[in-house]
Amino acid sequence: MRNKDLVSIDRLTSEEVGDLLTLAKDLKAVYRHGGRVDSLRGKVLAMVFAKPSLRTRVSFEVATVQLGGHAMYITHAEVGLGKREAVPDAAKVLSRMVDGIMIRTFAQGEVDGLAQHASIPVINGLTDLYHPCQALADLMTIDEHFGTLDGIRVAYIGDGNNVAHSLINGARRTPISLAIAIPRGYEPKAEIVAAAQAEIGTRLTIGYDPVAAVRGAHVIYTDVWASMGQEGQREERLARFAGFQVNDELLGHSAPDAVVMHCLPAHRGEEITDAVMDGPRAIVFDQAENRLHLQRALLHALMGSR
Ligand code: CP
Ligand code: NVA
Repeated sequence: MRNKDLVSIDRLTSEEVGDLLTLAKDLKAVYRHGGRVDSLRGKVLAMVFAKPSLRTRVSFEVATVQLGGHAMYITHAEVGLGKREAVPDAAKVLSRMVDGIMIRTFAQGEVDGLAQHASIPVINGLTDLYHPCQALADLMTIDEHFGTLDGIRVAYIGDGNNVAHSLINGARRTPISLAIAIPRGYEPKAEIVAAAQAEIGTRLTIGYDPVAAVRGAHVIYTDVWASMGQEGQREERLARFAGFQVNDELLGHSAPDAVVMHCLPAHRGEEITDAVMDGPRAIVFDQAENRLHLQRALLHALMGSR
């Protein structure tokens, strides 16, 4: 990979995204068959978390260990990033001690600042704006399920949040189409939509009708209505998103072979029902597993050869 960092998918080229998805698939097969690649032998990944995590923390730590390296968990609070220590200073110190940084935080600016000032790779493990590792693993899962990304139509139902933004950027770098349906006032950021539509035109649509979005979709995707940090808006959001639940009735408007995706954690009974989560069309746990395979490829590509 030519890029030093993964701060957002739009900073990658289509070729880099394609190569990463192929590498993730190949390494998945290697590890499935008992093989091993020691490309991170002796290397250390610092993982800085300002928000909770199950998938991101575990997949990065396991992938690092599987590649022969070591992962170190640090809380954002103990570093005091931007408070106890300026972001550029922390970037320079970490660059002299470890071989890569993965950070989950609120402000995208912290990730951008670390990437700018660190000489080592910086990976965005989720911000309020983006969740690139998630969307890359989602593209891998879609490709694995349908055997292609060409012509695949994804309907995203819910909040115009970090996951939606990264899926939009994913559509800019792969051939998928994306139809987003949100309640008015919860649109993805206008500048992210405009940049995408300038490149991919009607392969990205933004609308307010979940039924229209799921018609003709191959994938129906949802995420929580109140993201980490928005807990105080939960009641208001529950009311505003009421017609946007992914349930059997909504799935009734989609093709019978359309699959359901969710980045997890799911708030069962809110954005998705138990029946759909536990039903035959959900591929949410394949999707979660692929976080590991995608992370392994990402670490190999960014840190393995340095
Ligand atoms: N999907 C995802 O990023 O999960 P975690 O928040 O548990 O890491
Ligand atoms: N939009 C969610 C994604 C969690 C993986 C959040 O930011 O909380």
